[in-house]
Amino acid sequence: MVSGQRVTIRACAKINLGLEVLGRRPDGYHDLVTVFQTVDLADELTVSFGGKGLRLVAAGLEVPDGRDNLCLRAAEIYFEAAGVEPAATVELLKRIPIGAGLGGGSSDAAATICALQWIIGADVNLQALAAEIGSDVAFFINGGTALGEGRGERLSTSARAASGNVVIAKPDLGISTAEAYGLLGPESYSAGAVTRRLFERLQEGTRLLDSADMLVNVFQPIVETRYPEVGVLREDMLAAGAAVAMLSGSGSAVFGLFATADQARDCAEALRDKGYWIYVGEMIKYSSCASDVHREQR
Ligand code: C5P
Repeated sequence: MVSGQRVTIRACAKINLGLEVLGRRPDGYHDLVTVFQTVDLADELTVSFGGKGLRLVAAGLEVPDGRDNLCLRAAEIYFEAAGVEPAATVELLKRIPIGAGLGGGSSDAAATICALQWIIGADVNLQALAAEIGSDVAFFINGGTALGEGRGERLSTSARAASGNVVIAKPDLGISTAEAYGLLGPESYSAGAVTRRLFERLQEGTRLLDSADMLVNVFQPIVETRYPEVGVLREDMLAAGAAVAMLSGSGSAVFGLFATADQARDCAEALRDKGYWIYVGEMIKYSSCASDVHREQR
């Protein structure tokens, strides 16, 4: 643990290849079954240890301020668990839009605690800290293709990661996760069987596009009723050649899957003229804690 150490780390976005909600819990959260998948769209974080207190310096897309920012909340929770006086600056280059269902804030939080762990190396359980910060945060510690259960924090990682070309697009609106969960009712609940089966097939090595009929998202019909422009975007994506197009998480982003990179690029070109925020990339196996760390001492 040396003051002045800086660690730079990428924080990838996720999409949900399946998302079913089992029911509402007494604590107000919902039990779900989901397949998380990291994609190569990423924020970049540089965490420097030293100074006094916690500071966030943000660039790129807009992010929440102060303690509303999950990076700072994550740093606070890490320092407390480590028994170390809080002293860090997080520089965040934001590329993942917020209110999109792409897990950007959760990924930033996971990257923050991984970076602090590289520097400080305290005897803490990163998975448990992550789950304390938010339901999706634990997934980003190891990333890849994973089945999430409980609030989303109980994870089984697939040794065989899904891969393929993806276009992610977002209409000019953001959706709060809490609001989207509030729109669910008992008629939305299911047993999670389709999503569990999808995960099994991915583990067996079946190509994702061969399981296209198993991609479900409980939020899609509800969000599209409340925000018709999301449904319009999904139809636009299908019309522009996507083999599958589905809402990610609780929205508002929609992702499309493609057999080839050329098809993905053509779709993005067609959508760009309609004024959406757009990303063209790939599903990747990525772990905030295992890869891509750049360290320096000042
Ligand atoms: O855990 P996180 O802070 O990301 O969740 C944000 C909100 O989304 C929660 O306050 C809750 O309203 C809702 N949520 C839920 N069930 C989950 C995850 C999130 O009801 N499994």
